[in-house]
Amino acid sequence: MPRRIGGAARAALLLALSATSVAAADVEHGKALYQTCAACHTERPDALGPSLKGIFGRKSAALEDFRYSNAMRRANLVWDDANLRAYIQDPQAKVKGNRMPYGGVTDAKDVDDIIAYLKALN
Ligand code: HEC
Repeated sequence: MPRRIGGAARAALLLALSATSVAAADVEHGKALYQTCAACHTERPDALGPSLKGIFGRKSAALEDFRYSNAMRRANLVWDDANLRAYIQDPQAKVKGNRMPYGGVTDAKDVDDIIAYLKALN
């Protein structure tokens, strides 16, 4: 490593640092927001929605013991950042005909925070 980094490298580094801090999601806030989701998404067998434990990186409609809609079964998604973001923002636009009775979260920062919490939910 050179002892001094050049102007361009330094600018790139600063840019990367500031991008991280802007994007830094707030897990605690996500947890608070998740309480709305938890009305349906719990571990209970009679829960309205499937458990979201370990949802990050999992395939859609992957739980054996939950009766998903045909729409969700056919969606064939992996719940990564992009797919979760789109689904949480507008469930019907992302998976047309799915039966999650939830309108979506419009605030992009709130969505990021919820996703950060989901990543920690294992
Ligand atoms: C009123 C009940 C309800 C609320 C509130 C709700 N969901 Fe759901 N959710 C469901 C149901 C029911 C399904 C299954 C949909 C289907 O099979 O078509 C589902 C499915 C999902 C899935 C796909 C699960 C899988 O295994 O593929 C994700 C991800 C999800 N919800 C996230 C959320 C998040 C995040 C929130 C809060 C912002 C939320 N949901 C709020 C009922 C709800």
